[in-house]
Amino acid sequence: MFVIETERLTLRPLRLEDVNDLYEYQSHPEIVRYIPWPERSREQDIEAAEKTLNTGKFDLKESGDFLVLVWELKDIPTHLGVAGKIIGQSNMALRSATDQLSDIGWVTHQDFQRRGYAFEATHALMKYAFSNFPLHRIIADIDTRNPESAAMAEKLGMRREGEFKDSEFFKGDWCDMWLYAILKDEFTARDSK
Ligand SMILES: CC(C)(COP(=O)(O)OP(=O)(O)OC[C@H]1O[C@@H](n2cnc3c(N)ncnc32)[C@H](O)[C@@H]1OP(=O)(O)O)[C@@H](O)C(=O)NCCC(=O)NCCS
Repeated sequence: MFVIETERLTLRPLRLEDVNDLYEYQSHPEIVRYIPWPERSREQDIEAAEKTLNTGKFDLKESGDFLVLVWELKDIPTHLGVAGKIIGQSNMALRSATDQLSDIGWVTHQDFQRRGYAFEATHALMKYAFSNFPLHRIIADIDTRNPESAAMAEKLGMRREGEFKDSEFFKGDWCDMWLYAILKDEFTARDSK
């Protein structure tokens, strides 16, 4: 099975039995405020999980391929975690195979934020992705009303390359978006320090 191990987390493909844990954060209004999901009901969560199971990949090869990795807590003492609990997820999609360009996204369960989990998981996934998939550049589109997420992108070494005014009509509002990016060479140079 495709897994990425970090100190505290196992990043692995979604399973249908994860839905109860996913529902805890995917239904939370603050969590989905800047991500393109509704506040999911349990039925919508099952539907989304089934779609991922049917169409998600373990590799990024062709434009449009996407992967979802959930973050499973390892069996080590944490502030309130139960080993095996899913406390967040990473999403990646290959926007262009020709340009070797992928986007990346991150979400941490509301009860587990500010403990370094998003950084730990995303850094490990980027490292894996640049080493194992044909990628030249990874980007993140971040709503300018979400500076916490922008700070996370910067901590990962991503560069803010632009701000796009009213670039998305999102959940009833026109949104200004930041484009963050990092190249493979840049990531590798930082990571080897
Ligand atoms: C953005 C998000 C994923 C961060 O998750 P997290 O697990 O709390 O992040 P980490 O603890 O790994 O923090 C990594 C860095 O992110 C930044 N950060 C995270 N939360 C922050 C906050 N509330 N305020 C300021 N900076 C914050 C900091 O730079 C932090 O590094 P530091 O701890 O050394 O200061 C989380 O807030 C979240 O899930 N938000 C809702 C979903 C979302 O908006 N996703 C992103 C869409 S673009």
